[in-house]
Amino acid sequence: MLMTKIYQPDEVDQAAQELRLGELIAFPTETVYGLGADATNEQAVKRVYLAKGRPSDNPLIVTISSVAMAEQYIAEIPSAARKLMAKFWPGSLTMVFKIKPGSLSKTVTGGLKTAAFRMPQEPTTLRLIEAAGVPLVGPSANTSGKPSPTTAQHVFNDLEGRIAGIVDDGPTKVGVESTILDMSVPVPTILRPGAVTVEEIEAVLGMEVVADRHHVGQKEVPKAPGMKYKHYAPAGQVVIVAPDQWEAALKWAQAKAEKVGVMVDQSLLDQQTIPANVEVFDYGSGITNATHKLFAGLRYFDGQAKKVNWILVAGYPEEGLGAAYMNRLRKSAGNVFFSDLED
Ligand code: TXA
Ligand code: MG
Repeated sequence: MLMTKIYQPDEVDQAAQELRLGELIAFPTETVYGLGADATNEQAVKRVYLAKGRPSDNPLIVTISSVAMAEQYIAEIPSAARKLMAKFWPGSLTMVFKIKPGSLSKTVTGGLKTAAFRMPQEPTTLRLIEAAGVPLVGPSANTSGKPSPTTAQHVFNDLEGRIAGIVDDGPTKVGVESTILDMSVPVPTILRPGAVTVEEIEAVLGMEVVADRHHVGQKEVPKAPGMKYKHYAPAGQVVIVAPDQWEAALKWAQAKAEKVGVMVDQSLLDQQTIPANVEVFDYGSGITNATHKLFAGLRYFDGQAKKVNWILVAGYPEEGLGAAYMNRLRKSAGNVFFSDLED
């Protein structure tokens, strides 16, 4: 067991020293906390997979502090990508590029000829990378399968004793992971929706990108709830509730013998009586607040202490930031909607 040390933002030089020695240090970003290791140190990168319990064929993001640092590894940066870098770096847009052969180890790339690059909008972490002098691999700093961490405490809960330290710079601003855009294919393709929206990317490029934009209002039949398609999954079953379904959902919850967790803007429930077995985690109003609190709420209701078998969570329209929010929520719920339970 390692002693996991908490570093304040003014202690990044010490944290960088640990990284140079091949140790693992979690770092804050504006999206979620990342688990850092020297991307050029094969042994250190291997330990990231071990610490997270992550399947070794899932490639890691390369976190950099400057375009020049990324250029050491990227084969060629297309002019469209330069425009996006100018607009969104540092920020919540991760881009996938073809890399110079052999410039990154197989452990980082999962054997692919491409890698994903990200420059976070978090001065503390940019200073950490500068001080380390090397790019850092930066997967989310959670145990594989659990919601991504949005506070240093979440990281500590998952990885205490497995990593050397955590740089604590308070709760993250956005709450869900970055947008991933594949720039290694002929037409840029969104691989994961995030805080930088499809609309914002298209405005910069002046062209349409490939994105999954047909989710709006659509209800997919759950394939195998609670089975292998689940990510971001707490112990209880997550159920997505549409804005006009709260009255019915609270009645349904009341009929349950066990405790039910609810994640919603509390003011939406003003007209309702909250049953005694229901506990509300208040989202505050609007999609920005809901996105900020999604993973924190799922973690709040997770685990033995709460004994919550069901978590009812507010659905939002799948546009703008709502596309990123619903992407994570659908995974967490295994696509289970309240309207499906009712039938
Ligand atoms: O906001 C974020 O992106 C956070 C913070 C910590 O920076 N990081 C993050 O990393 O979410 P991770 O590893 O949890 O998710 C990265 C995703 C994975 O699903 C991985 O499969 C994908 O990026 N990925 C990595 N390299 C790739 C590549 N060359 N091509 C396609 N997908 C890639
Ligand atoms: Mg992750």
